[in-house]
Amino acid sequence: MIVSLQDSAKPKQSETLILFATEQDSWSKELAYLDKFKKSGDCTGKKDEVFFLRGHSVAHFQNTLVIGLGDKKELHFESYRRAAGLAYTQLTTQKCTKAAFDFDFSNKAEKSGDQCLQACAEGFFLGAYSFDEFKKKSATKNEKSKDLSDLQILTKNAKAKNLLQVVEEAQIISDATNLARRLGDLPGNKMTPSDLAEEAKKAAKGTGIKVTVWDRSKIKAERFGGLLGVSLGSSQEPRFIIMEYKGATSVKKKPIILVGKGLTFDSGGVSIKPAQNMDEMKYDMCGGANVIAALLAIAKLKLKVNVTAMVPATENMTGPSANKPGDILTARNGLTMEVLNTDAEGRLILADALAYASEQKPAIILDAATLTGAIIIALGNSYTGTFTRDDDLWKKIESSAKKTGEPVWRMPLNDHHVKDIKSDFADLANISSFRGAGSSTAAAFLEHFVDKDIPWAHFDIAGSAWNCSNRLTYVPKKGATGAMVRTFVQFARDHF
Ligand code: BES
Ligand code: ZN
Ligand code: ZN
Repeated sequence: MIVSLQDSAKPKQSETLILFATEQDSWSKELAYLDKFKKSGDCTGKKDEVFFLRGHSVAHFQNTLVIGLGDKKELHFESYRRAAGLAYTQLTTQKCTKAAFDFDFSNKAEKSGDQCLQACAEGFFLGAYSFDEFKKKSATKNEKSKDLSDLQILTKNAKAKNLLQVVEEAQIISDATNLARRLGDLPGNKMTPSDLAEEAKKAAKGTGIKVTVWDRSKIKAERFGGLLGVSLGSSQEPRFIIMEYKGATSVKKKPIILVGKGLTFDSGGVSIKPAQNMDEMKYDMCGGANVIAALLAIAKLKLKVNVTAMVPATENMTGPSANKPGDILTARNGLTMEVLNTDAEGRLILADALAYASEQKPAIILDAATLTGAIIIALGNSYTGTFTRDDDLWKKIESSAKKTGEPVWRMPLNDHHVKDIKSDFADLANISSFRGAGSSTAAAFLEHFVDKDIPWAHFDIAGSAWNCSNRLTYVPKKGATGAMVRTFVQFARDHF
């Protein structure tokens, strides 16, 4: 899809004019033909209302598409991302390949026009994602040729450099998010730990990002007992992926480290999962994919920060050497971990990565992981559960997430949770001795591997990382969402 800024005074010929309207809007003279549809109740500006008028040509356009933004008083930037996602889907359904979006009419947040444009552009770019590389070529090619390919954004400020830059930045962030989605959507047999490492290298080409990949023997030599242990049940070698971007004025400036769970398939291991929905466990590397993507966007935006991404990647399988319940592993920082349930493997591989990240003395560590089913019970798929004991860091996260429209919810993490994951035979048990608060006890487990003086937050994205089309218009019906990519990028932008 090619997106360009066009002077609204002289729009080019296009198929469809797109307008975002609130319930309070009235039409200009030019658009008076829409009046009767307001009266009939078909085009009222109600939230998520889609109104498509074919063949009623106004000036340069054959069709009109109006998307409802809802009540003007309740608008936020997410309303625009949402409307753009809906617009994209509707244009595809109507087989419109060329459209022009009247930004001046649609923008009711004049004071923050840039952020509004960014949200609109992201809605279109993110809405355009689909995963069909394993479907018959000819069918998808024909379908693709009916997708929106040319989108003009009409504004009287089309020459303003900052607006062009906003669209370019929205594209970088959305492309990175769509890359993360693709990595998540790829099935386990096409997205092994070594495949993930190769994709990271490929994506980093030409960006100045340094990529280092450890193989099994290096992982062993570096005493990553958790990652090595979990990988034992699989014929696929584990990998530890490190990506470094140095954008700060001094290369010595402490980096932000983003750690992501890269479990390329989680069968549960010997404590095997039930068959139903086990296919979804190909998404268990979304934390890894999403931090790789965030780092990539940060580098492409040339933000003046130092950021490192670290991804422990492995499968969790049931092979003859697999972990058995009761086995004890030793993590990078020397703590021993009793594997009471082989399905609680994410924390075992993150343990090493967090300990290693702490050794680098970073300014902050943020980790993202599809860590617990319990977070889905607690928050559904609408919020990312966020755990930190650091009030200051939480405020920063909350303010960045507010800007990107990605809902985060602060979850409890305290000494009670720590008590629950002590083991009778090792320093820690990988499951709680108590039934409840499974996401908090998982976070308490991770905490043991982060230096006390490093501000740290853990994001449990098990719910928000996939199948969110029930509430978001710019994600695919089924599949990975790229949760937290935008927020991590925004965080790097806001706080450094
Ligand atoms: N990858 C899963 C968590 C998960 C579950 C993500 C459902 C997405 C959807 C994780 O490795 C896991 O299996 N966790 C266990 C932990 C339990 C054994 C303490 C869980 O949540 O059931
Ligand atoms: Zn598991
Ligand atoms: Zn898992």
